[in-house]
Amino acid sequence: MAKKTILTGVKSSGHPHIGNYVGAIKPALELVKKPDHQGLLFIADYHSLTTVHDKKAMQHSTLEVAATWLACGLDPSNVVIFRQSDIPELFELAWVLSCFTGKGLLNRAHAYKAIVQKNEEAGNDVDAGVNMGLYNYPVLMAADILMFGTDLVPVGKDQLQHLEMTADMAGSFNAVYGPILKIPAAYINEQTAIIPGLDGRKMSKSYDNEIPLFGDPKKLRKLVMRIVTDSRPPEEPKEPETSHIFQMYQAFATPEQAAALADRYRKGIGWGEAKQALYEALEASLAEPRKVYDDLMAHPEVIEKHLAEGKEKARAISLPLIQKIREAVGIAR
Ligand code: TRP
Repeated sequence: MAKKTILTGVKSSGHPHIGNYVGAIKPALELVKKPDHQGLLFIADYHSLTTVHDKKAMQHSTLEVAATWLACGLDPSNVVIFRQSDIPELFELAWVLSCFTGKGLLNRAHAYKAIVQKNEEAGNDVDAGVNMGLYNYPVLMAADILMFGTDLVPVGKDQLQHLEMTADMAGSFNAVYGPILKIPAAYINEQTAIIPGLDGRKMSKSYDNEIPLFGDPKKLRKLVMRIVTDSRPPEEPKEPETSHIFQMYQAFATPEQAAALADRYRKGIGWGEAKQALYEALEASLAEPRKVYDDLMAHPEVIEKHLAEGKEKARAISLPLIQKIREAVGIAR
């Protein structure tokens, strides 16, 4: 049986945090390890250009994302890791797809609609601050996915609409030219999809409540100690299910350790103690990968070598498909 193609992209904006690790990195790495799965992982650098307009930040962030995945256990001899901008065929396919995408479909994109709504509330022009890259974002994302005959796309819930749009675009194209583009499915890990940040809201760059995945352990401990709790006394029994500290702990500890901490919660645990347990679990999981990460960031040429190899492997897939598409539409001679 043919292998299933698993593909996901990560924007190179912001520093990877533990919410990214639990919600995206870990489940994707587990999925691509399955023997009948072929994993492709790329850094969506041109997607980041919709918001990141700082050259240094762009360059650095690309390396950070690649180093993070490698440090977390991505095996480049099994999984193809590459830069979006290294695959010119993607931008050609994005154009082709845009010719099969109703403008109305993009008008309904959540990210775009949110900006329009803000503008309306502020009494601005509805499109103020919207560049065409942002508006066309879903088309490029569809190209990313369709270019590699993807079966499954591990993503967070917030990306579901993009996957529906991808299926829509592929369907419109295939309706004219036959079944050339494979319709992908989203793969959402329900259990670990949302990790709370320091203030209890979803951990996100936009809320400034992140715990970075790799950083100084002292700073890590400080951040953990800053997680917001209530003022109940230590001896009062507590429910692990509703505790953000416990939810994070669970994502890093073994099931036995989690059961033991749940027990301590029910008998009464001080928040300081619970935080210390969380810090220790984080440190136990992150100390080794942090070393690998620091080493890679100190040797960017190693990262570049992996990305160059990934580029060749990815283009071995994208080149034949773009040729097929050119032939189908009547552009190739
Ligand atoms: N939009 C995705 C995000 O913000 C990143 C992304 C770009 C992506 N292209 C993709 C994810 C293709 C999956 C597949 O997280």
